Amino acid sequence: MNILILGSGGRESALAYKLKQSPQTDKLYVAPGNAGTGLWAENVAIDPMNFAQVKDFIIGHDVKMLVVGPEEPLVQGIHDYFLADAGFRDLIVVGPCREGAKLEGSKQFAKDFMRRAGIPTAAYAAFSHGELAQAKAFLRTLKPPYVLKADGLAAGKGVLIEPDLGRAEKALDEMLEGRKFGAASDKVVIEEFLDGIELSVFVLTDGTHYKILPEAKDYKKAGEGDTGLNTGGMGSVSPVAFADAPFMKKVEERIVKPTLERLKAERIPYSGFLFIGLMNVAGDPYVIEYNVRLGDPETEAVLPRIRSDLAELFTAMHRNRLDEVELEVGKEQALCVMLVSGGYPESYKKGFELNGTENVSPGTLMFHAGTAMDEAGRPCTAGGRVLAVTTLAPDLESAMRKTYSEIGKIGFEGMYYRKDIGKDLCR
Ligand code: AMP
Ligand code: GLY
Repeated sequence: MNILILGSGGRESALAYKLKQSPQTDKLYVAPGNAGTGLWAENVAIDPMNFAQVKDFIIGHDVKMLVVGPEEPLVQGIHDYFLADAGFRDLIVVGPCREGAKLEGSKQFAKDFMRRAGIPTAAYAAFSHGELAQAKAFLRTLKPPYVLKADGLAAGKGVLIEPDLGRAEKALDEMLEGRKFGAASDKVVIEEFLDGIELSVFVLTDGTHYKILPEAKDYKKAGEGDTGLNTGGMGSVSPVAFADAPFMKKVEERIVKPTLERLKAERIPYSGFLFIGLMNVAGDPYVIEYNVRLGDPETEAVLPRIRSDLAELFTAMHRNRLDEVELEVGKEQALCVMLVSGGYPESYKKGFELNGTENVSPGTLMFHAGTAMDEAGRPCTAGGRVLAVTTLAPDLESAMRKTYSEIGKIGFEGMYYRKDIGKDLCR
């Protein structure tokens, strides 16, 4: 069957890599893709937010499966758009409808949902424009540091963690009154701070049955030792040693099952990936956030470990028969390091040629993220996060050695990366 992936990052590169391996895949397209997705798929110049254009392409190219990489088209209702048209009844869409996508699209919706489902999460309250006094009064009932979140989508930048009350109140002023994040911060969620280690858990579900994918840890801070500014993610590892069987059992019983049961009880159909961002607080999992898609760069470490045919899993999901297929996962350690443009996540230059990518050893996976072809047809940098480099090895130490030695062969002007991905998890 012909498959169309929407998106242009490292996550979509990894999806293309994995779907290309499926015997079910005939033609594979990525819209708009990047300089690397062209290795496994054909790039098509379509904006994922232009649903009519996506539809025309699907009709014109006999596409049977639509895999939505990023959250925005889902939050804007791309799945509903196709469901509303009887001609697309058989189209397999990977990603939830608008109502389910609110789990990511609105922080308050997600928190209220968790409260109704009895899912462990940080204490919170939500405030709208005009409720500044009440918001400040709630802040004073909490202990520092203070967690403030813009309610809507803010490109991963809408969360502020402030060390003291003065800074938290100032940030609140800027969000609620100054519209710091535009409409996204017309409403603000204030949360209790959770102290622990983060973990990303991905679930593929048809709304009734589910498969828990290998867990991963993302390194969000720009600097070594988890210092500096927040980024989209500077690297990832999978598996994660502390997520042992007893911990994952807690995740399944206290979070995955109640989430899916509550979605069903509230008649919110859900098919696709659910990404649960967790905090391990002294051995117990708490939900920080839901996302309605795969994580980036977690996907670049998770998908290479999956042995099963991803297209087959998606097909079974569409038939509400995820229980009939097996999810087979390799035991090896995956370690992914993001090579980023100098200056990221603040301003950076683009358009630099990628050097040495042809020298990496077989088995090294290079997932392009912010890359494009220059006028001469050579791959060059076109974003903050440029290239995700993943290797697989029997253990974490060897995966670190392997990934970093491969990175030594690659370069572009201003290239930066964290040299400590995985180090905190070494014994
Ligand atoms: P989010 O966009 O909700 O994932 O938040 C971004 C980051 O802020 C998370 O990855 C955490 O590192 C941090 N964070 C969010 N909520 C909390 C919380 N309640 N306690 C501690 N850290 C948090
Ligand atoms: N790596 C975190 C995210 O994709 O949101």
